[in-house]
Amino acid sequence: MSDVNTTPNEPAQKPTKTQRFLAKHAILERSPTLLLIFSFLVVSIGGIVEIAPLFYLENTIEEVDGVRPYSPLELTGRDIYVREGCYVCHSQMIRPMRDEVERYGHYSLAAESMYDHPFQWGSKRTGPDLARVGGRYSDDWHVDHFMDPQSVVPESIMPKYAFLAETTINPEHVADLMRTHRFVGVPYTDEMIAAAEADFRNQGDPDSDWDDLVARYPNAVVSNFDGQPQLTEMDALIAYLQMLGTLVDFSTFTPDASR
Ligand code: HEC
Repeated sequence: MSDVNTTPNEPAQKPTKTQRFLAKHAILERSPTLLLIFSFLVVSIGGIVEIAPLFYLENTIEEVDGVRPYSPLELTGRDIYVREGCYVCHSQMIRPMRDEVERYGHYSLAAESMYDHPFQWGSKRTGPDLARVGGRYSDDWHVDHFMDPQSVVPESIMPKYAFLAETTINPEHVADLMRTHRFVGVPYTDEMIAAAEADFRNQGDPDSDWDDLVARYPNAVVSNFDGQPQLTEMDALIAYLQMLGTLVDFSTFTPDASR
């Protein structure tokens, strides 16, 4: 192989075309400004190649049977969950590792949080993951646990949330809340929004006429969650928790990739 660096006595060999081209790189290496500009160009091209196709794909999330928008009461409970910062101690995202799947159940699917604005994946687990907590405990357990977590789990460091049972809620603004979610892509129908107030009340009252509610929101749990006649923040929050992770039937679910 010939070398450009020759000893003084030998006649210098002409650099090849490639070598001359590569030598131009030295210009970039010597000028920080040029290097910055060219690095920026390269990173931008890489970014566009990765990001641009996402805008043209029909769907970046595999749709899964059962996933539906939240019922008015669940949506209200979800707002309380966000307001109280439950996500600071709880994640809602089961990773596909064996220890997680054995403890919490099937790993979380992207579709299961497709109607979450903002998503509640969280980044810290002071308490357990809540992605599939729905149906794991009775409503009464949740009430006792919120009133005084140490009464059911003595070593718990979760704060008390007894005040939630004292704050009554009404459906005055729930239709607006649903319209806002529709604006960002949640497929609430006009029918769902028109029935919002009735659905909100009926979900907290097992004696009501809740058939239409469950037809609109399959698997919604209808119950007098906190045991009090009036609807409270506690009712809404428990309605939300009892739904988490129950929408997809994993006995029949097969991921697209393995079909
Ligand atoms: C300071 C951290 C902290 C905050 C904030 C917190 N939790 Fe917890 N939570 C825990 C811990 C620790 C546990 C485990 C011990 C226990 O069951 O109390 C827990 C347990 C739970 C459980 C039982 C989960 C299971 O699978 O056993 C639920 C449900 C729950 N929390 C809901 C909530 C909700 C809803 C909020 C917000 C209103 C909230 N937590 C706020 C720390 C927290």
